[in-house]
Amino acid sequence: MFTPIVLLTALLPTLITSASTTTPKSRTVQASLNSALRTAATAFDRAALLPNNEDWYYDFPAHSTYNAPTGAVINADAATFPALTGMGISIALLKLAPCGMLPPHLHPRATNLVTAITGNTTTYMIGENGVGLRQVDLVPLRVTIFPQGSLHMMQNNGCEEALLISALNSDDSGTLNILPALWSVSQPVIKAAFGDDNLNIEALGNDIPDVGTGAIIGSAECKSRCGI
Ligand SMILES: *[C@@H]1O[C@H](CO)[C@@H](O)[C@H](O)[C@H]1NC(C)=O
Repeated sequence: MFTPIVLLTALLPTLITSASTTTPKSRTVQASLNSALRTAATAFDRAALLPNNEDWYYDFPAHSTYNAPTGAVINADAATFPALTGMGISIALLKLAPCGMLPPHLHPRATNLVTAITGNTTTYMIGENGVGLRQVDLVPLRVTIFPQGSLHMMQNNGCEEALLISALNSDDSGTLNILPALWSVSQPVIKAAFGDDNLNIEALGNDIPDVGTGAIIGSAECKSRCGI
């Protein structure tokens, strides 16, 4: 006979997911200003809410993750740069460390145009089931597009930092990193999704990086080539 405690103990490992469940904090710096800008009666009234020259620029280097060793995605959007509220556009600086990557993710509310400034970064994009992978080497001043909702990722191939500018047609594009998202689901269900009930999900999911700064360190091939 199993007591409820024994049953619970037996079930527990399958209920606990292995990826970190750290909830990212809101990035919104002035929520009341966002609300006021959204509800201003006219463009004139809206302008009065942004009276200073300082309300009209955003400095990427001032962001706390600008010098993160893995690199970072730094968003100038409604959350961080309130003048963008209601403008339907935002921009991000992508800083990729040597061999750095942006792990697989999608933007639920925006199409994304990415322009390389420095480096050589390979991008991978899958638009929907059946259409196949599109792979682009983003060399300086080359642009690629990730349509709204498409799965995409990228890796800096170089041993130097790569800089890219990412434009999005929403002031609140959102980002979903698919591996931490998938690993928040219970293990038996993930195993079924992989088509292998014996898959060692726990080992597989143990080291999925947190969303963190948005950028992570890339492939072993690149790291060994660059002596990292
Ligand atoms: C960019 O990197 C890829 C992958 O290493 C390489 O095949 C390609 O030749 C590089 N492009 C340039 C212009 O260096």
